[in-house]
Amino acid sequence: MTYKAGALTRLSYRGTPLLAPGKLYVPFLHDNSKARRIGRSTVEFRQLGRTNEKISTIGMGAWRIGSYRSSDEREGQVRALRRGIELGINHIDTAEMYASGRSEEVVGEAIKDVRKDVFIASKVAPGNLHHDDVAKSCRASLRRLQTSYIDLYQVHWPDPNVPIKETMSAMEELVDEGAIRYIGVSNFSVKETEDARAALSKNEIVSNQVEYSLANRYAESEILPFCAREKVTLIAYSPLARGNISHSIPKAILQKYQLTPAQAMLNWVTRHEQVVAIPKSVDVGHLEENAASVSVRFDAAEYEEISAA
Ligand SMILES: NC(=O)c1ccc[n+]([C@@H]2O[C@H](COP(=O)([O-])OP(=O)(O)OC[C@H]3O[C@@H](n4cnc5c(N)ncnc54)[C@H](OP(=O)(O)O)[C@@H]3O)[C@@H](O)[C@H]2O)c1
Repeated sequence: MTYKAGALTRLSYRGTPLLAPGKLYVPFLHDNSKARRIGRSTVEFRQLGRTNEKISTIGMGAWRIGSYRSSDEREGQVRALRRGIELGINHIDTAEMYASGRSEEVVGEAIKDVRKDVFIASKVAPGNLHHDDVAKSCRASLRRLQTSYIDLYQVHWPDPNVPIKETMSAMEELVDEGAIRYIGVSNFSVKETEDARAALSKNEIVSNQVEYSLANRYAESEILPFCAREKVTLIAYSPLARGNISHSIPKAILQKYQLTPAQAMLNWVTRHEQVVAIPKSVDVGHLEENAASVSVRFDAAEYEEISAA
C-alpha cells in the first residue's frame, strides 16, 4: 500500500523534511517485520458529538509526555507525536496538569508547523474551575501549545464545590472569543454531564472522556448508553489498561485478523461508533501498531469472545 505525500509535506523535524511532495510512500517503512505484522494502515475518522468535525478513531494521549530526563528523551517524544501525525492521526489529547504544563509544550513543538492538520484537545484542571481561572488556564495552555485556539477544551474532573454554571459560562466566553472551538468534559457521570449541558446557553457538550478498556468496563453501565443515545463522543482514556496488555485474547482471532493483542484491545474498545480512544505511546513502533488497529472489525461473536476472555 502506498500514499502520495500531500498536505503533510510540510512535516519536518529540526529542519529535515519527513515527506517529499508527490513522492509515493509505503507506510511503516522503518521496520519491515512490523510492517508485515501490521499489514494495513487505514486511519479511520469519526464524527465528534453532533458536529461535522472528524477526529481519528485512534488518537494520541499525552499524559507523561513532557516528563523527560534529557533533551534526547524530549526530542524522542516530539518525534513520536510527529510520526503519529504523519500516519494520519489527528487527535492529540493533553492537559494543563500533565507534567505541570510540559506535556502541552512538547505537543506545541510537535504541531507548530502542521497546526491546521491536527485536532488539539486539552483540559482545565479541577482546581481552576472558577470563572476567571478557566480563562487564565486556557491562555496559559494556548501559550504552551503555541497556538491561538484549542479545538476541544475539557473540564478534567468535576468539582462539586464550583457551580457548573460558572465554569460553563467561562467556557462559552472562550468559544465566543475563538480561543476554543468545542466544549467537553472528563470523568463526568451521566448526571454531571446533563447538568453541564443544561448550564450551556448556546453550545453543546460534545464529548465525555472517561476510562474505558477491556480491563475497565465501568463506562458500559451508564455512560456509554447515554453517549450513544445523545450523540456525545466517549473518548476512552487508558484504552490499553496503562500498558497492561491483555494475554487472554483468543489467538485464533488475533491470527485471523493479523492483529497484535494491543491492536485487538483498541479495536475492541472502539467497536461502538460513539467511541474514540487515545492510547499514549512514545514508541514509534507502538504508534504505528496503534494507528493500524481499526482497519478490520471483529464480528459480533468474536467481540463477545474477546469480552468474555
Ligand atoms: N481524563 C483523564 O482523567 C485521564 C486519565 C488518564 C489518562 N488520560 C489520557 O489517556 C491517555 C492514555 O491513557 P494512559 O496513558 O493512562 O494509558 P494507555 O494508553 O492505556 O497505556 C499507555 C501504556 O501502553 C504502552 N503502549 C502503547 N501502545 C502500545 C502497544 N502497541 N503495545 C504495547 N504497549 C503499548 C505505552 O508505552 P510506550 O509509550 O512505551 O508505547 C504506555 O506504557 C493519556 O495519555 C491521557 O491523554 C486521561
